[in-house]
Amino acid sequence: MSLEAIRYRRGSLQILNQLLLPQQSLYEEIGSVQQGWEAIRAMKVRGAPAIAIVGCLSLAVELYHKGNWEQSMSKLENFVLDSLNYLVSARPTAVNMARAAQELGHFVHQEAKRDGATAERLQESVISWAEAMLDKDLKDNRSIGEHGARHLLQQAGQDKVIVLTHCNTGSLATAGYGTALGVIRSLHAMGRLEHVYCTETRPYNQGARLTAYELVYEQIPATLIADSMASFTMKEKQVSAVFVGADRVVANGDTANKVGTYQLAIAAKHHGIPFYVAAPSSSCDLSLEHGGQIVIEERPSQELTDINGVRVAAPGIGVWNPAFDVTPHDLLTGGIVTEFGVFAPAELQVALTQAMSKK
Ligand code: MRU
Repeated sequence: MSLEAIRYRRGSLQILNQLLLPQQSLYEEIGSVQQGWEAIRAMKVRGAPAIAIVGCLSLAVELYHKGNWEQSMSKLENFVLDSLNYLVSARPTAVNMARAAQELGHFVHQEAKRDGATAERLQESVISWAEAMLDKDLKDNRSIGEHGARHLLQQAGQDKVIVLTHCNTGSLATAGYGTALGVIRSLHAMGRLEHVYCTETRPYNQGARLTAYELVYEQIPATLIADSMASFTMKEKQVSAVFVGADRVVANGDTANKVGTYQLAIAAKHHGIPFYVAAPSSSCDLSLEHGGQIVIEERPSQELTDINGVRVAAPGIGVWNPAFDVTPHDLLTGGIVTEFGVFAPAELQVALTQAMSKK
């Protein structure tokens, strides 16, 4: 069984506290929107798809236990909309929660207008909507894994490939399987993966703490490297491709992802190594034209100056700690892998619009 970041059954939501990994595997109960917001903000749960799923399920759990709406649909609708707006504010760069809020907000409004709608039915349909996110994300990730693996194998023309990845994009960042790590999983399952290099991912070490943990757990052949070793690894270790995830891919293909992604893409281009972004359509934001419009989250300075609560940086030094950077679309030389297929950045907008209209 693969690692589970999220455990859910109706009325009960638990998340694996990722701040404690890899030393401790501790599941924490999330019983309300407030607790969901706090867990997302503190990065007990992180990764763009997992943030949206936990946000919406925290709402589902609170709704389930709240019960008594005094038959007032407008109260319920307002509670859902206010909760969604609040959840979006926890982390601004990853678009998944904002998109879920928009879609669920629209859904609740439509459901409230249906013939025969009652507060009870509305409550039930909001809960079911949030629950459906789990299966959908897992299914999308499996498709991403398949599309990405096949595309790389075809392009590389090698029996076995070597992949470099950044941050954590696996089971811990999603409902399961993962995006960039899903591609790696698929390559491994096909017997076509020679090796993975995962970056440490400073300052928060999602690579060293979480991706390394998942790779060991899945028995995938892998080596941890410091972020500053990436160019040298590309030069020395016959890397076939770089695969990363995304927090927001905008209409022209510019991509916000964990800080450090941009420099990896530059290094990959220098070495002639294809650079892929693997992300579900729920991480794409076609309402923004280019990456300059993406709000980049800034995290507390202690995440850079301290390690495990111990200060390592010189006291008094100034700190800039953006959690993400934006990789310009022309550096995505491999393509953007979605659940609908692999697209060049210039094809993304039309391809996604067409795919969504068929759904
Ligand atoms: O700050 P984090 O840990 O939430 O950042 C996560 C990333 O940047 C991931 O690469 C991205 O969310 C994709 S997860 C499938």
